Amino acid sequence: MAPKSVVLSGIQPTGALHIGNYFGAVKNYVALQDQYECFYSIVDYHAITVEHDPQELRKNTIEMAMDLLACGLDPQKCTLFVQSQVPEHTELSWILSAVTSYGDLQRMTQFKEKGETQEFVSCGLFTYPVLQAADILIYKASKVPVGEDQLQHIELARRIARRFNFRFGETFPEPEALLTEAPRVMSPADPTRKMSKSLGPKHYIALTEPEESIREKIKTAVTDIGPRTPEKSPGVANLFLLLKLTAPQEIYDQFEADYAKGTLKYEPLKRAVADYLIKALEPIRARRAQLKEPEVREILHEGAKRARAVARKTLEEARERIGVGKLLP
Ligand code: TRP
Repeated sequence: MAPKSVVLSGIQPTGALHIGNYFGAVKNYVALQDQYECFYSIVDYHAITVEHDPQELRKNTIEMAMDLLACGLDPQKCTLFVQSQVPEHTELSWILSAVTSYGDLQRMTQFKEKGETQEFVSCGLFTYPVLQAADILIYKASKVPVGEDQLQHIELARRIARRFNFRFGETFPEPEALLTEAPRVMSPADPTRKMSKSLGPKHYIALTEPEESIREKIKTAVTDIGPRTPEKSPGVANLFLLLKLTAPQEIYDQFEADYAKGTLKYEPLKRAVADYLIKALEPIRARRAQLKEPEVREILHEGAKRARAVARKTLEEARERIGVGKLLP
């Protein structure tokens, strides 16, 4: 049997996951575990490239792990670990920085955008994509599930792999982005913007959000302003998207038909969206409530051990290739 392709993805420890993260990315991570050899990394070393609070980072890292496990990542099927617990990533990142073009880094839009929001623009923020390339290449991953916004970073990782291979001999496969048609869940309070924590609490629904609060956010979600048109307004489209993601097809079709006839009332639509969303989140909530912190830490340690065994091999190979050779045992 051919070995399974390797998948790697990284997720920033932003604290609690919201339904946009879940439907847009994490649900896909869960599906991929059955098909590929998957490594999922909580990338705490990426999180320190902008202003951060150490206490928060510690809390957010473990919380992210708990949410990911609650969503269905299974330590029997995938390797879930915290990036900084596999220090080989950062060492490889340094090596790769020597085959990364300064000009390429300057063209990264995420750097330009994030840089604008920071009072202090760190060099780490600039070299962030090199660490990301190391995250991927250290497992010789060929597939990287990401959103549109990360395509430029994946392309850079390919260029880095190519230049390394060209100069030092074939070492890294060129990774490819795995773009699934991930639904873009929008903010209920401003449906022209993608659901995001950074916009404030009205703009996202956490996976573990209390039922009452979910109902309130859906009830007050922006719908139409002005007359109804054949094309749904962003707010209405967002409600339909949530219904599509959580309700049985017949229910969804019924609301669509009502919309087309012009008889749809938003109140029952919103009630249905809230009901089905709460129902869809129930198993996640139940699993989340079962998880204990020491058990989760143990899972992360096991994951780091597994990841390290692979990472160390690749790092040794890269060291050998560039002429710095073996570390003392
Ligand atoms: N930069 C990614 C993001 O902001 C996170 C990330 C870090 C990542 N390392 C990665 C994604 C490796 C894919 C592969 O979403």
